[in-house]
Amino acid sequence: MKRVFLFAAVALAAVACKPRSEGGPVYLDPNQPLEARVSDALSRMTTEEKVALTHAQSKFSSAGVPRLGIPELWHTDGPHGIRPEVLWDEWDQAGWTNDSCTAFPALINLAATWNRDMASLYGDCIGQEARYRKKDILLGPGINMGRTPLNGRTFEYMGEDPYLAGQLVVPYVKGVQANGVAACVKHFAVNNQEVRRTATNSVVDDRTLYEIYLPAFKAAVEEGGAWAIMGSYNLWNGQFNCHNKRLLCDILKGEWGFDGVVVSDWGGCRDDDEAVTNGLDIEMGTWTNGLRGAASDSYQNYHLARPFLERLRDGRASEADLNDKASRVLRTIFRTSMASERHFGEFTSPAHFEAARRIAADGIVLLQNDGTLPLSIPQGGKILVVGENAYKMMVVGGGSSNLKTKYEVIPLDALREAFAGKAEVVWERGYVGDVTTDYNKVVTGQDLSEKRSAAQLRADAVSAASDADCIIFIGGLNKSNNQDNEGTDRLDIVLPYGQDELIEALAAVGRPMVVVNISGSPVAMPWAPKVNAIVQGWYGGSESGHALADVLTGAVNPSGKLPFTMPKSLADGPLKTERQYPGVREEGKQWWQEYYDEGVFIGYRWYDTRKIPVDFAFGHGLSYTTFDLSNASIRRSGKGWKVSATLRNTGSREGAEVVQLYVADTEASVARPSKELKGFEKVSLKPGESRKVSFTISREDLSFFDADAHEWVAEPGEFHALLGTSSDKISADLPFVLK
Ligand code: BGC
Repeated sequence: MKRVFLFAAVALAAVACKPRSEGGPVYLDPNQPLEARVSDALSRMTTEEKVALTHAQSKFSSAGVPRLGIPELWHTDGPHGIRPEVLWDEWDQAGWTNDSCTAFPALINLAATWNRDMASLYGDCIGQEARYRKKDILLGPGINMGRTPLNGRTFEYMGEDPYLAGQLVVPYVKGVQANGVAACVKHFAVNNQEVRRTATNSVVDDRTLYEIYLPAFKAAVEEGGAWAIMGSYNLWNGQFNCHNKRLLCDILKGEWGFDGVVVSDWGGCRDDDEAVTNGLDIEMGTWTNGLRGAASDSYQNYHLARPFLERLRDGRASEADLNDKASRVLRTIFRTSMASERHFGEFTSPAHFEAARRIAADGIVLLQNDGTLPLSIPQGGKILVVGENAYKMMVVGGGSSNLKTKYEVIPLDALREAFAGKAEVVWERGYVGDVTTDYNKVVTGQDLSEKRSAAQLRADAVSAASDADCIIFIGGLNKSNNQDNEGTDRLDIVLPYGQDELIEALAAVGRPMVVVNISGSPVAMPWAPKVNAIVQGWYGGSESGHALADVLTGAVNPSGKLPFTMPKSLADGPLKTERQYPGVREEGKQWWQEYYDEGVFIGYRWYDTRKIPVDFAFGHGLSYTTFDLSNASIRRSGKGWKVSATLRNTGSREGAEVVQLYVADTEASVARPSKELKGFEKVSLKPGESRKVSFTISREDLSFFDADAHEWVAEPGEFHALLGTSSDKISADLPFVLK
């Protein structure tokens, strides 16, 4: 009896353990290996069904296979929050009432945290929001390098250093994808300006490409395991990047083994034949003649729709090309909406707003301070806040990163909240900047109209300053044309709307004065010596005001570091000629030509090597406490070197410092930057506390890319490991030799 029972139990267990697919299609079984699912699904599909996977069916979706129960893919911007639902074939929002998201800080703000944990938190939260909204592909993050401070999309990217961007993109991607949403890393590659972005050929040599413009993408793919990549609008070395054979087939899918899906930027696919053969997998947003005429089958006019089918039928396109694209799309669907673990996500939860506030505050950079910050205002005192950016909501606008958020806390309200019952917070606008309050039919609801003249606005601000205990100027840029905005570049790095003169006039009043620059890209600060403190704020998203007030009041001890250089003037930068920027028209050439003649020397690699003074250096950022970096040492360890030092909080507040490791090659046979970032660690310490920080330097960290040999080369000779707390504050110089 006992034996029979045992037998029955074993039989039952065997049934329970049977793969669910037995008898059913493998592709439907999320427990089957991914590749088995892909090939099974592929084997059941018609040519037409496969082709349908490779192009859009609406502004933000591409088809699945309805007959097989395989769902369509929903794409969404990205990268700072989940875009409101748009109409089927339009950019304008659809007017839903339940799609107002959590607006996270702009990616440049995340980059300024120099904090991998923040990137991970960001990715996880935005991934959850995407999942809740049933999106499969998040169009972000953007990691194009800050080649010029004028690039209108600098705020959407992660700064001027490939290592920094690479270190932050990896946890962001992992965080997003842990929620069953594909991160679509963009814009691949060498897409560093908005001016003529769809008609410019970037001429970049291989060394520059491999050392500066590719590493962050490589990290996203190889270490982050990104499931999607977006091609960029421009051309590189004569071919559009959405179907650039070398970039997509040879490098991305070849050298890096990328097995995910390449999505075109919206309208970035330009050629019937190259779209088929050169590595593009999903074509989105194409502006064809058919679409312009609003033909009923407009999506059939896409390069990868009817023309692709025709080519397959007459033999100009191969079955192998089709199967490769379809497999990649299927893989993406199985990784996301048909994954074994389905996530429900979470939308606008208190935890997400809290995360947005933490990340925003963690990236705010204290550029200068004589002790005026954190604010110490006598009871019943007066704080005069001047500037449009204290009031203007910034989440709406800027291009495809435009968001509709549940709420946005402006700095003025946050300061009033922080000082309620303690001090009066008076606001003077001071100047009129941008009065726009809507984008793609998303509205902020603010009224920014102004009747006073510029002279009157300034006079009112100056007269209100005379009895202020502190003046806080909150200005900078905004998201209108020629500022931090997609589609246009800035014209200069000087602050617009006469802000420099206004700041000078306020400083002349002689009261303690703090300048808060809200921008997503570098601005010149000629008045720096005349003000007491300077804070670099960013577009901080829903909680931007709170984050800024947290730092100004000292509730948060600032620990952000600049992810780009703040030059004194545009003319000091590496782009000197029109052929470098914004490009030139050449006889016989169809597209604008832009030559990256500066090579690897962008950002601090340029200023530092040429010893050009800047306002604030890459990696700079102060704290309300002080730190000491000592006991630096270097020793051989395995195949590399181990660099260590002790960081101590020597002040009276808890705070965090970013220890930065740069490497210098002093005996190179090629021109190399005077130093390059190869490691960083953000360390939080209580007063008096100290901690040992260690880094490993590998051979790779010493290498440059030899384009002729197509390999990384570490030349024997002397190198220096430079440890510090900014690119211009190096406290230990440790020479070592590569034999
Ligand atoms: C932008 C992309 C964006 C896409 C969809 C394009 O114009 O360059 O970054 O993801 O539109 O909105």
